[in-house]
Amino acid sequence: MKSKIEAARLQFETDLAKATTSEEIENLRIAFLGKKGLITDLLKGLKDVSVEEKKEIGKDVNILKGFVAKSIEEKQTELKKAEQEAKLKSAKCYDITAPDNLELGTLHPISLVQREVEKVFVSMGFTIEDFSEIVDDYSNFEALNIPKHHPARDMQDTYYLDNGQLLKTHTSAAQNAIMKKYGAPLRVIFPSRCFRNESIDASHENTFFQMEGIMIDEDISISNLIYFMKTLLSEVFKRDVKVRLRPGFFPFVEPGFELDINCEICGGEGCPTCKHSGWIELCPCGMIHPNVLIEGGIDPEKYTGFAFGLGLTRLAMMEYGIKDIRVLNSGNLKALTQFDTRNI
Ligand code: PHE
Repeated sequence: MKSKIEAARLQFETDLAKATTSEEIENLRIAFLGKKGLITDLLKGLKDVSVEEKKEIGKDVNILKGFVAKSIEEKQTELKKAEQEAKLKSAKCYDITAPDNLELGTLHPISLVQREVEKVFVSMGFTIEDFSEIVDDYSNFEALNIPKHHPARDMQDTYYLDNGQLLKTHTSAAQNAIMKKYGAPLRVIFPSRCFRNESIDASHENTFFQMEGIMIDEDISISNLIYFMKTLLSEVFKRDVKVRLRPGFFPFVEPGFELDINCEICGGEGCPTCKHSGWIELCPCGMIHPNVLIEGGIDPEKYTGFAFGLGLTRLAMMEYGIKDIRVLNSGNLKALTQFDTRNI
């Protein structure tokens, strides 16, 4: 019996030295201390030894049992620590407080394009501004040369609050406040969620994202506007994208344009996303109307500027080949989590 105890101790020591993962240690624990384990067997064997021997041998088995339990616990702690340290070293982003096996989220496709566009504009000297989603009639319309009863308001019906405020219909609603805050010269982009009372279909949503940009300085012209737009699109699509500029009417710009891009979904052949025209309206833009500059406290005799209202939602659809706008607000993780390729 004594030699059995010694053999068990030796075997345990060899096995313990070989174990390198917490799983292997756990197996070792079961092999020695489990119901059918070696030490349990030894304890059971005590019934066969004489009464005199029982005391001494029993003590030896218990000492071994204590030794095995303690060694396993120590090794387990040591290994867990090493495993965590290895994980910490290999992970790019590791939150030590997060529960194990936490599945990290991904960025929404609109956030992805928003960041991409922001990066391009920041590299060209623009700053990024934020503005509320609930605005007053003045910011959304009046300050933008859209007086009450102007027909341009028909295109931008929205949701009104009881106190007369409204959910902003376009990012242009922030133009006036930003001009007043910073004055000229000025280079700013301001992304936001916008809302309109729309019938929803493959390319229309009542809730969508835009990225507005304004640049105001001496001698700013349409050429500057075209340059910035082309730079942006070639950076985002990583190739030359076909665009067309057509006249477009917006009371807050003069002249005003619609910048369309070739539909990336059908390659220009025509599909439901582009309403079978082959073109997608992506970026209405124009030279800021003098009335809007005056309202923003900027002298139109000295300064000129351009403004654009990039459809971020549409851009995301084009970039990622998303055919139906409704997917973007759907919360459908299967669809929405496939675009974030950052290694997180
Ligand atoms: N705010 C306009 C819209 O959403 C777009 C626009 C912005 C047009 C800036 C011209 C200049 O319809």
